[in-house]
Amino acid sequence: MKRYQCIIVGSGIAAMQLANHLSNRFPILLITKSGLRSSNSYRAQGGIAAAIGKNDAPSLHYEDTIHAGCDFHNEKEVLDLVEKGPSLINELTQSGLRFDENPTGQFSLGMEGAHSRNRIVHCGGDATGKHVMDHLMTTLSSHIDVLENRLVYELVIHPLTKKCIGVKLKDDLGNNEVYWSDHVVLATGGVGGLFLFTSNDPSITGDGIALAYQSGAEILDMEFIQFHPTLLYVNGQTAGLISEAVRGEGARLVDAQGNAIMKDVHLLGDLAPRHVVAGELFKQRSMGREVYLDISMINAIEEKFPTITAICQAQGISIEDGKIPVAPGCHFLMGGIAVDTVGRTTVEGLYAIGETAATGVHGANRLASNSLLEGLHYGKKLAAYLNEQMLHSQSEPMKIDLTKRTTITNYSLPDKQQLREKMMAYAGIIRSQLELEQLRAWLNDYDSVGRIDFSLDDSSSEDIQLLFMVQTAKLIAHAALLREESRGAHKREDFPDEDERWRKIHIVQSKKGIEM
Ligand code: SIN
Repeated sequence: MKRYQCIIVGSGIAAMQLANHLSNRFPILLITKSGLRSSNSYRAQGGIAAAIGKNDAPSLHYEDTIHAGCDFHNEKEVLDLVEKGPSLINELTQSGLRFDENPTGQFSLGMEGAHSRNRIVHCGGDATGKHVMDHLMTTLSSHIDVLENRLVYELVIHPLTKKCIGVKLKDDLGNNEVYWSDHVVLATGGVGGLFLFTSNDPSITGDGIALAYQSGAEILDMEFIQFHPTLLYVNGQTAGLISEAVRGEGARLVDAQGNAIMKDVHLLGDLAPRHVVAGELFKQRSMGREVYLDISMINAIEEKFPTITAICQAQGISIEDGKIPVAPGCHFLMGGIAVDTVGRTTVEGLYAIGETAATGVHGANRLASNSLLEGLHYGKKLAAYLNEQMLHSQSEPMKIDLTKRTTITNYSLPDKQQLREKMMAYAGIIRSQLELEQLRAWLNDYDSVGRIDFSLDDSSSEDIQLLFMVQTAKLIAHAALLREESRGAHKREDFPDEDERWRKIHIVQSKKGIEM
């Protein structure tokens, strides 16, 4: 019997920060479904937001976060997050990470949309995620066992206590294994892979959300999904992120004739909150107009943005031309698994951190570069809680017969590409009742983990991930249909305005039903 004190599922910044802060007195297992570096955190370009500039303060960071997220936050959590920002950056530098500096040896602080100050710390120009994650992996202690290329396909729930007591996983040859633990943490990222256009790593397909839902946990506000305005757009496909930091350096969104698109749309122009810019670009593209990022005014762009230069080169787009074709795509989930202030879900023994958790710090639309900060903050906070808990764990051997449930494999599943196309078209940047109902009806023809109650022991990893995707897509479609207003990243063309009656209403979905 393989038993750990804590199992972490995922390998992004929240997972790594948690692993780094868990006491080395306890055996810990970290499992990831592909390689350790296949995460959205690793791809992050812009950086980490923290109020460390001379003319900055956490209170200003707080105001910007609330404003960008349309006043739909857990204010106490936001306050805690922005106050901890400077010390979290300081900890990383103390442990040896070098952020980019200006010639006077101060942090070089970048600007991004909806920030009132330059407050984005970054590394390697636009390779912040790679540098931060490589650093956190280097400092990972040897008491953490790591399993790559393993798909967690079921959380083991005690039939009597309903406590989460372990995970079942599949390796890439299809072999099954069970690991037991008193504490299971989901840090599996968001839902980008459910959409045709996305900035996300292809491995990010909502697994944690489907697993949590299947195990009885509450899932919150799944309608709030951020679409990043500027993904590189080539031959009708998106091909990687073009960081908002490029607009922070002066780049402008223009049409084919070079007219500035955002000039009369928002006071902050090209640096308006993301949902505003993404909505406008979507409108332009729906009218058949091409949209470009004019970068001609940025000096030494290859030096400042080496990752973006490489992404463009790989697609045959020359940076020297001064124009990058762009389109919006799915970027970040603000909703997710409902958690309390330390990351406990509504299922005992099950925790969630990072993008997969709905902590309330992003409201209806996340402020740029607050996501890596969230991962650092909640990874550390949950570690403090678990270190205390693990001191008192009993570590009793589990006496549960896992072989009792029937296994079947003949469920109905959609084509993955078609699911992504439907999600983009019907649950994308601008939504409507009619389209969401069509999407829901289409999804209901297929099985999902919430609809079945049999073991997936004999199913393939591909089928299981598709069952997870359908489940997560259903949660998104239901919530988006229910919220009859537009707020932040959730835009309904049939309810185009914010509605005060919805401001405090959260949509909670679980196997028991929907609560608002
Ligand atoms: C970007 O660099 O534009 C993305 C950063 C973020 O999503 O916070």
